[in-house]
Formats: sequence, structure tokens, C-alpha cells
Amino acid sequence: MTHRILLPGLTRRGLLTGAAGAATLAVAPQLRSPAVAQKAPLKVGLMLPYTGTYAKLGQFIDNGFRLYVEQKGGKLGGREITFVQVDDESKPEAATDNMNRLVGREKVDVVVGTVHSGVAMAMVKVARDNNTLLIIPNAGANDATGPQCAANIFRTSFSNWQPSYPMGKVVFDAGLKNVATITWRYAAGAESTGAFKENFTKQGGKIVEEMTLPFPEVEFQALLTRIATLKPDAVFSFFAGGGAVKFVKDYAAAGLNKTIPLYGSGFLTDGVLEAQGEAANGMKTTLHYADNLDNPANKAFLAAFKAKTKMDGDIYAVQGFDSAALLDVGLNAVGGDDKARDKMIDAMAKAKIDSPRGPLSFNKAHNPIQHIYLREVRNGRNEFVSIAHESLDDPARGCRMA
Ligand code: PHB
Repeated sequence: MTHRILLPGLTRRGLLTGAAGAATLAVAPQLRSPAVAQKAPLKVGLMLPYTGTYAKLGQFIDNGFRLYVEQKGGKLGGREITFVQVDDESKPEAATDNMNRLVGREKVDVVVGTVHSGVAMAMVKVARDNNTLLIIPNAGANDATGPQCAANIFRTSFSNWQPSYPMGKVVFDAGLKNVATITWRYAAGAESTGAFKENFTKQGGKIVEEMTLPFPEVEFQALLTRIATLKPDAVFSFFAGGGAVKFVKDYAAAGLNKTIPLYGSGFLTDGVLEAQGEAANGMKTTLHYADNLDNPANKAFLAAFKAKTKMDGDIYAVQGFDSAALLDVGLNAVGGDDKARDKMIDAMAKAKIDSPRGPLSFNKAHNPIQHIYLREVRNGRNEFVSIAHESLDDPARGCRMA
């Protein structure tokens, strides 16, 4: 487990690791006057993938979160922010230990994570058991804001249902009636293709085959051969990160993109276009973001992100940025006192954020209500085509929160 602690405050001591850092932090508050102690830094645990197929996604969420905090002078709601980072490697089997370490040993005040749905569900369980404030900046596992919804759990990204559902109508309306799906065999893949299928079959379309391979495998050849044999009107897929790069390139290299259009939720082309190159040209996807959204928040965000990182922002960076914005709303409502938990949560639930993605608010299960855009890859960007579904709310099936 990568584990870094960046000490806040007086002197910048740089990066410390493990117990040494924790010990330093434990001593520091006793040296302060009570008034200052009240304002001890808020400790944010960033549990994200910094290695593996989702490494870039985790890094961009991290950068987006930090950018927002920097723009607020290192403070949210008047509270200085300090970070502890954990590399979850997108490994569900290590997730409970990683989360327990953040909450138990590091005593973080809030956890921000993660990308992978399976890892996120283990985090949700610990957060529910310990009443830890958890902000999910990507993972779409429907259950996190469904049956496992809780007052202390927020999501600033999407449910897996959300970006894929509108594509069912887009593809059907394009006159494509027989579609094959292909994805990784885990919650995000099953729920994304499931949401597409729900809407596509409702319109009258037919799913001719549902293909899967284990996460995070990228040996697509046998399945591409199968697609060539099946000759569906189109293919719908969920892949992301390194896997999306390889899938889109392999699909084009096999020549399939010339006869069988490839669709997907926008993760297929977001944050990966540079690596995909020509292979992604003309692809249409649906997502809660487009690179060229013409609103002041997006323009300012992209410029600031570029200035900070020298890289182009994407949806993952936006979700990190908005996670900090949501925490800011909560801390502002309580003057930085996160122990006033009920009031803080109430403010977060009612937050209306002017996000780079457009207007962002939350439903009763604490999942975003947001526009889903149809985009097309042009000029190396995911460019806005239309609003595929305005202010789409997730059904929050199974959530019993009032
Ligand atoms: C997920 O596992 O929920 C997931 C991962 C990567 C994405 C989207 C969803 O881009």
C-alpha cells in the first residue's frame, strides 16, 4: 500500500511515510492553544488507484481535488486540509484493509474514493459500520446509492446506470436494432451494459450477445473475432482507463469500426483520447461531461487544471474538483466544524454546485442529478453534440433513506 502523509501548516516538512508521519501529527495538536486546536487541519484520506489500468483516473481525481483546495488557499470552510494517500490498486480484496487503515490508524476525518466499483462497495461497508464521511468521486456501483445508501455517503460522479441508460435510445434512434455488448465481468460492466439494455430493449431493440472478460484483462482478440462473425448493427461497451485505450485500438485494428459502429458510455473515450489516436475518431458516447461545454465554470476549470498539471482536464479531474467543492459546501455550513455532522450533511445534500459539467445537485440517495450529453470524438476531443437526457436522476432502487 502506497502511503504518504503531507504535513500541513507551519513548516512544510515534505513527504513522510508510515508511522513516523502519524506520530508527528498526533503530537502537533497538543502544542497548540485550545482555540487553534479546534482548527486543527481536516484530514482527508484519498483512497484511489495510483497504479494499474485505472492509474490515470486516480491521478486526475487527485489533481482535481487538490486544485480546488489550492484555489481556496489550502482551506475548505476555513479549515486547513491535509492529505493521506492510499493506492487501492483497484483491488477489491485489499479494499477493506486499506479503508480500515485510513479510518482506524490514520484517523482521517473524511475519505474520498474511489474509481473501481468493487473497491468502492467494500469502502461503503466500512463507512456504514464506522459512520465515516465518504465521498465517492467516481465508482458507479448502483448499490452505493441504492440499497446501501446512507446519510454519511455521497457520490459526486454517477451511478453506473446513469451515463449508459440514455445511449439505449440514441442507438435505437440511429436505426440500429441488433446490438452486441462487451465489457469486463464486474459491477461497473454489468450495470453499464444492463442500463443500456434496459432502455434499448424498451425502445424495441434486441441484444444479440453479451460478451464479457475478467477485469482487468485486455486480450480482446477472440471476442473481436466473435463480433466479426455475429455482424451486429452496432456494439455497446464499457471499458475505461488503460483497458479502453487497448479495446478501441484493437477494434479499429481489426477493421470492425468501418462496418460495425462502436458505442459506449463516455468512459470509453474520456481521458484516453491521446493514447487512442485515430482509432477513436468519430466515436459517439454518452457522459455527464464534454470537453468543450460552453460554460464559464468549465472554461475556468480547464485553464486552471492545465496551468497546474500541464495536462488537459477530463471527467475524472472534474469529479475530483467537485468532490472538494461538495466538502467545501458542508464545511462552510458549520464554520469548518466537521463534528457538527448532521448540519454538515444536510448542507451537502442540498448543495447546488456550478460544476464544469453543468448544474450539479443531489437526490435523496446523495447521487448526482445531472445532464447526460451525447458527444462525438472530433479534433482529439469529446465534443458536445446534444443533451441526451436532461437532469437525469438515478432511480435509487432499494434506497430507504428519507
Ligand atoms: C467503476 O468501476 O465503477 C468505474 C470505473 C471506471 C470508470 C467508470 C466506472 O471510468
